[in-house]
Amino acid sequence: MTQRSTIDLTQLRSMTAEDLGAAHALSVEVNWPHRPDDWRLVHEIGEGIVAADEGGRVMGSAMWWPFGPDLATIGMVIVSPRLQGQGTGRRMMRELFARAGARTIRLVATAAGQRLYESEGFRATTAIAQYQGLASAGATVRDARVRPAGEADRPGIAALDREASGGDRSRMLAALARVGSVEVLEDGGRIRGYSVCRPFGRGHVIGPLVARDATEAVALASPHMRAHAGTFLRADTPEAEGAFVDFMEASGLGNADRVVQMTRGPAPATGPAQVFTLANQALG
Ligand SMILES: CC(C)(COP(=O)(O)OP(=O)(O)OC[C@H]1O[C@@H](n2cnc3c(N)ncnc32)[C@H](O)[C@@H]1OP(=O)(O)O)[C@@H](O)C(=O)NCCC(=O)NCCS
Repeated sequence: MTQRSTIDLTQLRSMTAEDLGAAHALSVEVNWPHRPDDWRLVHEIGEGIVAADEGGRVMGSAMWWPFGPDLATIGMVIVSPRLQGQGTGRRMMRELFARAGARTIRLVATAAGQRLYESEGFRATTAIAQYQGLASAGATVRDARVRPAGEADRPGIAALDREASGGDRSRMLAALARVGSVEVLEDGGRIRGYSVCRPFGRGHVIGPLVARDATEAVALASPHMRAHAGTFLRADTPEAEGAFVDFMEASGLGNADRVVQMTRGPAPATGPAQVFTLANQALG
């Protein structure tokens, strides 16, 4: 394997706010749609490392987000194409494992990353379909139980999210609520579903969306679909078929890619509330 025999001279160090410009340039280099603001947001709610070459230039990035004592996600794992295949990706992953401690780790793997993650003990759990396109409002529904969320809904949203995701994502949810709009489905005096829509990449993303079933997921996605009709909208979903997928297709969003969610460590107990869309592929 002469291609991999080059000695990797990069140094790993913690990512700081000053690195975000270089990290954004890396993501552009591998054709990811993230804007500088998307990097700032994920950095605000998590921690990262960068791999720097002898001249101090950032050649790699990797981030992790702790969701309480038992769960974390990893994402934004990028090695500059000029340095790929020399062990940097694996070294960054192992550094993050050390930081995450005993937590179960989840990530969403691109085709490029899957072999690396499998060899580090991750197993594929769920296929994730990336839907995107110019949204239309024609298939939306109106459900009287759905309304914009207020400050007082925060604890109910966080508790429901914990049931669906298996971790404490309240810090992430607070950050997403600052930049996006949040809808809740309230039934019998309790929050039974919520959805967030925020600017991301080429337009807006609907996610997370947590609901009890696909019909309620459609009701929670509908206000966002109406608000962004005629513009670029994205949603990453573990749903392979059914009413929610039918709704996205009828709303102008097509399946652009399929990736795989992977887990390292025991899967946390979840349910009955379900994750219908991810915050994005990095955050989970
Ligand atoms: C995925 C990525 C981060 C891996 O980084 P890297 O520094 O190239 O990876 P490493 O050199 O540490 O290699 C780790 C493993 O990946 C696999 N791998 C690396 N280069 C490969 C190549 N050219 N073809 C196929 N598999 C390859 C191998 O399994 C390798 O293990 P081995 O060397 O023991 O055989 C990098 O390819 C990348 O940035 N890709 C684009 C962005 C992306 O998709 N990121 C993943 C997001 S989940």
